[in-house]
Amino acid sequence: MIKVEKLRVTFGRDAAMHTVVRDVDLEVRRGETLGIVGESGCGKSTLLRSLAGLERGWTGRISFDGREVGRQRSREELKLAQMVFQDPYGSLHPRHRIGTALAEPLRAMGLGDDQARVLQALRQVGLPLEFAHRFPHELSGGQRQRVAIARALILAPPILLLDEPTSALDVSIQAEVLNLLADQREERNLTLVLVSHDLAVIAHMCDRVLVMKDGVFVDELTKEDLRQGITHHAYARELFEATVM
Ligand SMILES: Nc1ncnc2c1ncn2[C@@H]1O[C@H](COP(=O)(O)OP(=O)(O)OP(=O)(O)O)[C@@H](O)[C@H]1O
Ligand SMILES: [Mg+2]
Repeated sequence: MIKVEKLRVTFGRDAAMHTVVRDVDLEVRRGETLGIVGESGCGKSTLLRSLAGLERGWTGRISFDGREVGRQRSREELKLAQMVFQDPYGSLHPRHRIGTALAEPLRAMGLGDDQARVLQALRQVGLPLEFAHRFPHELSGGQRQRVAIARALILAPPILLLDEPTSALDVSIQAEVLNLLADQREERNLTLVLVSHDLAVIAHMCDRVLVMKDGVFVDELTKEDLRQGITHHAYARELFEATVM
């Protein structure tokens, strides 16, 4: 479902130029959940944002479902992969009601203000329909992240890119949001890429994990490796030993 070849992401120019993602290759099968872990600043969000079409300064090839996509995404291409961010508050406009926020991707696609679809999206993430009239600050953090997930799913993308989707949430509601994601994955046969620094979250959700360091992948672990605490690279060992799972 996802194929990335020699993806390189660079910021700045001339003397100030720095390469954040260094020629990475990546494949994710349909229905698979791939985890990406690695220390702060290693390039995880940049990689995800490039996949989502939010970064323009990349070279290489990105294909979704056998179809190559470019830096500037067409409407059709945007429907293939949607992203959920760490901070649900930051990703929702404070003065837009939830219903407006949910309808935004529909309007962007020229589908109009389809209220039936907005209500269905709310229902699918387990929120009361009257929340359509509320503002983001009138919701809890977990509820806001449900809205962000509903918005990412409203165009029925086959791919969801999740950047620390639960780390801004209270521990008690993290599991709820993860279960929602797992249910939606099941129901829609979604392909997920999940960035998280929480190895328990990664182990719970992912079929496979890539360990990133300084813009490259240094290790790949299967679910079985995770279960048995097996790593193949010293850095991965260091990362996993720092956490008791
Ligand atoms: N728009 C930008 N312009 C310049 N540099 C950037 C930009 N976005 C990210 N960077 C740099 O790229 C590097 C990787 O950032 P990125 O956000 O991808 O890291 P990350 O792995 O997601 O880290 P974290 O775990 O802290 O979220 C960092 O050094 C960051 O400063
Ligand atoms: Mg990040």
